[in-house]
Amino acid sequence: MGELFIIDHPLIVHKLSIMRDKETGTKDFKELLNEISMLMAYEITRDLPLENKEIETPLCKMTAKKISGKKLAVVPILRAGLGMVDGITKLVPVAKVGHIGLYRDPVTHEPVEYYCKMPEDIEKRIVIVLDPMLATGGSAIDAVTMLKSKGCNNIKMMNLVVAPEGVKHFHEVHPDVDIYTAALDDCLNEHDYIVPGLGDAGDRIFGTK
Ligand code: PRP
Ligand code: URA
Repeated sequence: MGELFIIDHPLIVHKLSIMRDKETGTKDFKELLNEISMLMAYEITRDLPLENKEIETPLCKMTAKKISGKKLAVVPILRAGLGMVDGITKLVPVAKVGHIGLYRDPVTHEPVEYYCKMPEDIEKRIVIVLDPMLATGGSAIDAVTMLKSKGCNNIKMMNLVVAPEGVKHFHEVHPDVDIYTAALDDCLNEHDYIVPGLGDAGDRIFGTK
């Protein structure tokens, strides 16, 4: 069964609390999301494979270990996942970036796909799917299903806030995919919003409401 890893380092918890506050504006919200993504990336990339490279220090030659450049891809779910890309790619600039466009239908709350563009060799990479919110789990489930249909078999899900209902649903469909999050919240409300949550992540990142 897939695992849920809660990355609750005090710096992450503190920054997330500021993001949750409805008085926090777009500029700060975006900056904090990137900062948290960078901090979470440290943990989620813990098992990235290293490869040997010959280098020369000022003293001698040595076989040094470096992250294998061809190994990682990050895939934000549009729109809100875009807010997490810079934080990760600052740490791992060689990571390729694929995009999946999904939005929740306002009436049915079901995800609707409208865009998909992946690196050519996506099936050979460790893929980290990015989305600040995992509510019902529908968007994350569809994104991972699509990646699997392209041959990906090493996928991690990275969220900021998740709901218990969504985690359960996600792992029923994708028991092989671990979820990394900064917080496991209480529940969903009648509109399938996460409570206490932080509201609509896309709107808060892009200032659309
Ligand atoms: C939000 C969020 C997730 C999805 C989570 O996106 O960014 O993608 O909802 O909900 P779920 O787990 O119930 O599927 P939204 O559809 O609002 O689109 P946006 O990012 O373009 O604002
Ligand atoms: N999408 C969001 O942006 N926030 C939620 O709480 C649920 C879905």
